[in-house]
Amino acid sequence: MAYTLTTPLYYVNDRPHLGSTYTTLACDAIARFRRLSGEEVILVTGCDEHGLKIQRTAEAAGVTPQVHCDRVSDRYRDLWQRWGISHDRFIRTTDPHHRRVVEQFFARVEASGDVIEGRQQGWYCVACEEFKDDPHEADDPECPIHRRPLEWRDEVNLFFRLSRYQQQIEDLVSRPGFIAPASRRREVENFVAGGLKDFSISRVGLPWGIPVPGHGDHTFYVWFDALVGYLSALLDPSVPVDLDQLASRGWPAQLHVIGKDILRFHAVFWPAMLLSAGLELPERVFGHGFLTREGQKMGKSLGNVLDPEVLLERCGGDAVRWYLLRDIPFGEDGDFQQQRFQDLVNNDLANTIGNLLNRTASMARKWFVEAVPPSGDAAAGDHPLAQACRTGLEGYLQAMDQVDFRRACEAVLQLAIEANGYLNDRAPWKLMKQDGQADVVAADLYAVLETCRWIGLLLAPLLPDLSQRLLSQLAEPAWESRSGGALGGDAVSPWRAALQWGGLPAGRALPEPSPVMLRLELDQPL
Ligand code: MSP
Repeated sequence: MAYTLTTPLYYVNDRPHLGSTYTTLACDAIARFRRLSGEEVILVTGCDEHGLKIQRTAEAAGVTPQVHCDRVSDRYRDLWQRWGISHDRFIRTTDPHHRRVVEQFFARVEASGDVIEGRQQGWYCVACEEFKDDPHEADDPECPIHRRPLEWRDEVNLFFRLSRYQQQIEDLVSRPGFIAPASRRREVENFVAGGLKDFSISRVGLPWGIPVPGHGDHTFYVWFDALVGYLSALLDPSVPVDLDQLASRGWPAQLHVIGKDILRFHAVFWPAMLLSAGLELPERVFGHGFLTREGQKMGKSLGNVLDPEVLLERCGGDAVRWYLLRDIPFGEDGDFQQQRFQDLVNNDLANTIGNLLNRTASMARKWFVEAVPPSGDAAAGDHPLAQACRTGLEGYLQAMDQVDFRRACEAVLQLAIEANGYLNDRAPWKLMKQDGQADVVAADLYAVLETCRWIGLLLAPLLPDLSQRLLSQLAEPAWESRSGGALGGDAVSPWRAALQWGGLPAGRALPEPSPVMLRLELDQPL
């Protein structure tokens, strides 16, 4: 069975921001890890292109909504390509295929008796594309997230009978593991315990949306249409839509990764819609935290938005991936601090990992005919670095399985710290000056180079480019973690099989050493 995971489908009202990049990088690491471990993975991403917010943005830019959506979704596609994101599907909710899927999905929901007419009154935030339950300021309410005025709505809409699913949703959200991290579960449980109200799924007089079949000038509420996008992404657009095919196309998703602000939509509304349509429920919804910058919320008005395109160009993907995955506990809020970013990248990647490899490979080339030295005693499994690798691997695998990127990164870094310590204790540069010690030096250098190979392997899902540069310094092949089918059965994947102490062949020619990670020197704010 495929491991399907999804990023949110990003709004195209604006260019990509660091928040969407963060979610996407995290999903990319999970997808790469699972592929390398031998699973068939379907990583879904895409763009959410309907709704009032996008219609208004296009109007302000003086273009049609479709032209606007084409431009921004191209930008997303292009950005993900430059970041090296390994998505398998990219769905746009303006695809004609998606429209057909939504129509069929709606037909099922309607057939279940879950669509009724009702009057919708309330305060609406266009930026959230959501009604706000109880705005604090009664006269002039604003959205607590966007700090923009809410708009009063009073219209007759179609409603989805969410209230019918009270019990099933209560059971679902309290199921251990459905909502992760566990700390976010309580908030959703409280919301559900307050009593689920039917919610409006259509708008009247909003042309930029999918028309609701059989309901005059109603168009679908953007969230109803967007969530169904996860299904459209899995179905083959070249054959007639058949939701019954989903089971063989990777549904249910194993994991929806989202930001905490859209948890309700994914953990409450979406499962109820799926139940109504007679489809399976996703296994888990992970709500990660929000990023701030130097302690402040990022926003256009503050002029402090971190642009992922600038970050990538000035710092490179490895540096940003490392900082976001290593420094911010996945699930909690995190603060982007430029100085800390620079320090971590320079200390961890350039010094601890990069220099370790560089100096060891240089010594090996100088003293052992430009090749991996004979392993001697170091090939034995009880070598201290062999033990460190095994312990590190165990922690790393567990952490990756639990999407605890921080712990996984720390496990890799710890291996480099131990190898550096070993090298300094053994001081091969001194030993080499003594007679008859060449075999000892050879074994020591072998053990450190072998540890570097492990570091390269373990970095493959997290920092694929650095992993590749590191391994190429050991004349090792790079690991393809973009695609590849499942192995099936109990077969061990080649990547997992390579994580075996002593895999580096002694005598292999080593290429001319070159630094694998340049230091970051950021003298200007990003
Ligand atoms: N279109 C909806 C999702 C529909 S899914 C069927 C949407 N799009 S979004 O572009 O506004 O947001 C995408 C993601 O970015 C959300 O998961 C949101 O939590 C995340 N982030 C937005 N700002 C963020 C930060 N400052 N920090 C971290 N993530 C943030 O919502």
